[in-house]
This record gives sequence, C-alpha cells and structure tokens, in this order.
Amino acid sequence: MSQDRIPIADPAAENAELAAELEAAVKRVLASGRYILGPEGAKLEKDIAAYTGAAHAVGCNSGTDALHLALRAADIGSGDEVVMPAFTFVATAEAASYVGAKPVFADIDPATFCLDPRSVEKALTPRTRALIAVHLYGQTAPLAELAALCRDRGITLVEDCAQSLGADESGRGSGSWGEFGCFSFYPTKNLAAAGDAGLVTAREPRHAERLRMLRHHGSRKTYYHDVLGYNSRLDELQAAILNVKLARLDEFNARRASIARRYGEWLAGSSLVLPQAHGRGRHIWHQYTVRHPKRDELRAKLEAAGIASMIYYPVPLHRQPLYAPDNEGVRLPATDEAAATVLSLPIYPQLGEAAQKKVCDVLKSCA
Ligand SMILES: Cc1ncc(COP(=O)(O)O)c(C=O)c1O
Repeated sequence: MSQDRIPIADPAAENAELAAELEAAVKRVLASGRYILGPEGAKLEKDIAAYTGAAHAVGCNSGTDALHLALRAADIGSGDEVVMPAFTFVATAEAASYVGAKPVFADIDPATFCLDPRSVEKALTPRTRALIAVHLYGQTAPLAELAALCRDRGITLVEDCAQSLGADESGRGSGSWGEFGCFSFYPTKNLAAAGDAGLVTAREPRHAERLRMLRHHGSRKTYYHDVLGYNSRLDELQAAILNVKLARLDEFNARRASIARRYGEWLAGSSLVLPQAHGRGRHIWHQYTVRHPKRDELRAKLEAAGIASMIYYPVPLHRQPLYAPDNEGVRLPATDEAAATVLSLPIYPQLGEAAQKKVCDVLKSCA
C-alpha cells in the first residue's frame, strides 16, 4: 500500500489529533479500577441524552445490540412484523430476526436513500408492531411523516441512528423522535470508539429501565434476574474515549460538511449524481455517496490512483441469501437502483484539501 493512499475513513488520524486528551482519559480509567458501568459511561449517557434531546440514554455493547435491546424492550417478538428499509446494514434486520419477528422491507426515496413513507404504508399489515427508520449516510429519514404514521397506527418507532449522531430534523435531534434511538460507536462512525460500543435513547422511563436490565443479564440488582437478558454493557475505556470525542463532535461534523461542500463544487458538471441534503435539518455527512451507472469502473480508476472508495451496500437485504427466501415477490426498484450505482468517497475530519482535490480530479477525468 502506498503511503499516499487516501483511505475511505481514518480513525487513527482522528485519534492522533486527540492523542493527549485520549491518553489522559485512558490512564484515568486504568488507574480507577472501575472498568464496566461506571462514571464515564454514566457521563456519556447523560451527555448524549442532552445532545440528542432524548429523555433517557442507556449505553450498551454495539449498535447491533442497541437495536436488539430496543426491540426486546418494546416486547416485539414472534408473529410480529418490523418494517424497515432493505438498503441498510444487515444489523437493522438482524435485530428483528433475533427477537423472532419478521423483517418487512420497504423502498427508499432515490434522492436521499432513506425510507419512502409511501412504500412504508404499503408494507404495513395488522401484524406490524415496529418501524425502524434508518438515517442513512448522515441525514434523517422523513421523521415527522414517519412519526405521525406510527402514532396514528400504534406502531413503535425505532430510529437506527448508527450513522446520524448530530443530525436533526426541524432542530429536533435524531434519536429523540422515536420511542427508541439506536446508536453505534463503531470505529468509523462520526462518534467513534476504539472498539465496539453503542447506546439506546428512550423516551419512556419504563423503557429505559428495561434497557438497563436487559443489558445486564436481566437484573436490576446484581445476582437477581427478572427477565432473560444479555451481557451488553458499555465499558469505561470506550466511554472515556467517547466522552473526549463527544466534546469535539460538532466541530468534526462541521469539517465533514465543508468537505461535502467542496466535493459538491468541484464535482459539479461531471456525470456523477451528487448527494442531496433533504433540507429539513442538519446533515452530518457520515458518508458522501455519489451515483453513477459505471460505478465499478470509477471505483477501479480511484483504486489505481490510490484512493479508497466503498459500496454501502452492494446487495440489499431482500436479496441477501439470509432473507431472499422470504422475499421472493418483493420489488424495491429504488433500492435495487441505489445498490447498483452508489459509491461512497473518502470523508473524515482529517482529510486534507489536497486529498479532496485529488479525489475530484480523478473522478472528473473519467466521469
Ligand atoms: C445503519 C447501521 N445500523 C446498525 C449498525 C450496527 O452497529 P455496530 O457495528 O456498532 O453493531 C451499523 C454500523 O455498523 C449501521 O451502519
């Protein structure tokens, strides 16, 4: 690998920029002797609740667990259906499968890659108990519309906020609209741990209490177990790292927005379809995702120039071997089109202007 290679994300560069603060935080935790469910985790929960505007926040082991715990806390289970996009990471659907419910896939709006409320309505049945709205690439699914639809029908709204911490709609943060908001702090996310970590926000105190039990072996009190739970606790080292970075998140998200603006200017006039902000609130540019019918050729050209790119996601969930047998008749044209044409470009707060220019120059020479 060339030293000049431009990665798609660069967690090490972010950690290097914050090295002094991160090292102090890690040392503090090591010296404390408290490694799981301690003051760092409690601070993170309090600060994320305040940051998103959610009433409660409960740390856990990953974004996947956050989704799973949310569906358990909502008592979703066998015989229930959970509507969601197929254009998402598999964890969204796995959560429904883990609790014995059926994932039911709806199509997306081709302009924003997020759920199309019209398609959601068509996917609803009397068995629908929950809707998972995925805020893909850093901006919200149409929350006002989806929240109203869920409220009218008594459906639980779960937000998959793995890619959207800091995004909002009409000033109201992602993770504060639904009964639950599920966050991932996977190392390439906008708020990134140095390992696995996640968190669930909740509106209802009873849900928050249940989430706290579920993440800790179904117990309120150690060695007393009321329900079947899990070991999905947030550890103090990850929480301490996240606390350092949460204080810088707005600044880092603003740097991503500047890169997106520059990409937009420099790629204008090419044959690429550029990503659109929906205009209902803040986009945090977790990904900068273009579209092109010859996406694979463009990707090869970028690769030859030492520039990484990624396809999120090449195979939509209704076509994955895991879910295809149950979805033979399902038609999701906008989802299929997106899967065939999307290409995500490097975007992260430490990406320099020369690298941004190089990405655009290579793309403009072939698109
Ligand atoms: C949309 C979406 N949902 C869920 C997850 C799962 O999060 P994690 O990897 O922390 O389990 C991710 C991230 O990987 C994601 O991007």
